[in-house]
Amino acid sequence: MQTTPAHPAKPPAAPTASKADDEKAVALRINGRPYSFDGDDTMPLLWYLRDVLRLTGTKFGCGIGACGACTVLVDGKAQRACLMPMKALAKREVTTIEGLANGELHPVQQAWIEIDVPQCGYCQAGQIIAAADLLKRTPNPNDDDIGRISNLCRCGTYPRIRKAIKRAAEITKERAAHEGGKS
Ligand code: FES
Ligand code: FES
Repeated sequence: MQTTPAHPAKPPAAPTASKADDEKAVALRINGRPYSFDGDDTMPLLWYLRDVLRLTGTKFGCGIGACGACTVLVDGKAQRACLMPMKALAKREVTTIEGLANGELHPVQQAWIEIDVPQCGYCQAGQIIAAADLLKRTPNPNDDDIGRISNLCRCGTYPRIRKAIKRAAEITKERAAHEGGKS
């Protein structure tokens, strides 16, 4: 499987902390940090994450939006990073697998470890991000809800993914109950 595709466009300049005065730059946040992108704004987000920022947890699979290996959250919603050009990301908040934990593991990450979901692992960052998005919209997902996640796993870990998403829903409730018990 190809992991570092060549993009015909000119590679972008390295990110800088702030270029708000540069009207052509795309200002966005990734994992809570500000970035300003002033390269070819047709470059897919996936290229920027992997080849420029070296956030390589997000994977390249098909490059055509079919496999979901490149799934990230954009403004909290799961999106295919291989299809999203940088020009579509102005003022938007991107979360990759590297930024999903917030002080503690995300419930989906914890459930993935408990259930020991991955086999080769290649699709798993995208699966976890897609599951996090589903749980936010559907706190008690059933098999049909989970089946609507279109991410592919060539190792066939779907039964464990289903189990882990249900476990993540429980963990989310356990944490809320624990927090409620403190107040
Ligand atoms: S790499 Fe397959 S959907 Fe993006
Ligand atoms: S764990 Fe191998 S592709 Fe999903």
